[in-house]
Amino acid sequence: MIRLPRLRRRRTTVGQSHSVRDYQALVRAKLKSLPDNPALALAQAIGAPTMEDFMSIGDGHVAVLRHRGLLDGMTVYDLGCGCGRTAQALVRHGWQGHYTGADVVQELIDELARQCPGYDVLLNVTPRIVAPDASLDMVFHWSVFTHFYPGESYLYTADAFRALKPGGKMIFSFLELEDVEHDRVWNANLDHLRAANRAEHLDAFLHRDWIRRFVRDAGFAEPRFTDGQDGRDHPPFWQSLAVLEKPA
Ligand SMILES: C[S@@+](CC[C@H](N)C(=O)[O-])C[C@H]1O[C@@H](n2cnc3c(N)ncnc32)[C@H](O)[C@@H]1O
Repeated sequence: MIRLPRLRRRRTTVGQSHSVRDYQALVRAKLKSLPDNPALALAQAIGAPTMEDFMSIGDGHVAVLRHRGLLDGMTVYDLGCGCGRTAQALVRHGWQGHYTGADVVQELIDELARQCPGYDVLLNVTPRIVAPDASLDMVFHWSVFTHFYPGESYLYTADAFRALKPGGKMIFSFLELEDVEHDRVWNANLDHLRAANRAEHLDAFLHRDWIRRFVRDAGFAEPRFTDGQDGRDHPPFWQSLAVLEKPA
């Protein structure tokens, strides 16, 4: 009799993208390592070493949004909202409007909901913006395309176009190899590869020309870019920034 090799049973992750698996695992590991301080554990999972950093980075997000046209009364969508670094800052700054935060980790959105009771949160693991057509004034996301393959970033961009009102904006941060400020992430990537280590999550770079291509295919007007650093209109932002506008 021919013996066939036994198939090992694996936990199924069908339908879950790499970033969903990685962030769910990272959040759970952080919560386990800091059982007495879940707020700090969640802040660290989304990249803020201390609560002071968590708050000052959130303040910077709000300054960029205000500079790019955020007004009271707007309807906004925070893709990859985490535990509410931006949402909590919007509350601190007294912004009034309709906020929805979407993420792939339940523990993160639960914390946002706890901290910002008037805001909507949703768990979504599909590459979509969960909002009706032409219903949003702004879609924003910080350090989210930095964890996606280019195709995933494109799908979210195209769906943001659908969900934005004419004249609405998508504002986001990204990493680019041309910026030496981003070298530490690039060098950390190389270290992981050299050591054949598995990184906690993908750290991805985009090129401005690729973003131009996404924007053209999705229907947005020509994007505006800054390196985030000039600091005149908002505190310096360590990632590059892109602003896309849906033609009115
Ligand atoms: C570096 S954190 C940034 C969090 C938040 N944008 C901020 O700046 O405070 C990246 C976030 O993206 C979320 N994320 C990962 N994969 C995602 C996906 N496929 N769709 C939406 N969010 C995702 C993570 O759970 C995490 O909250």
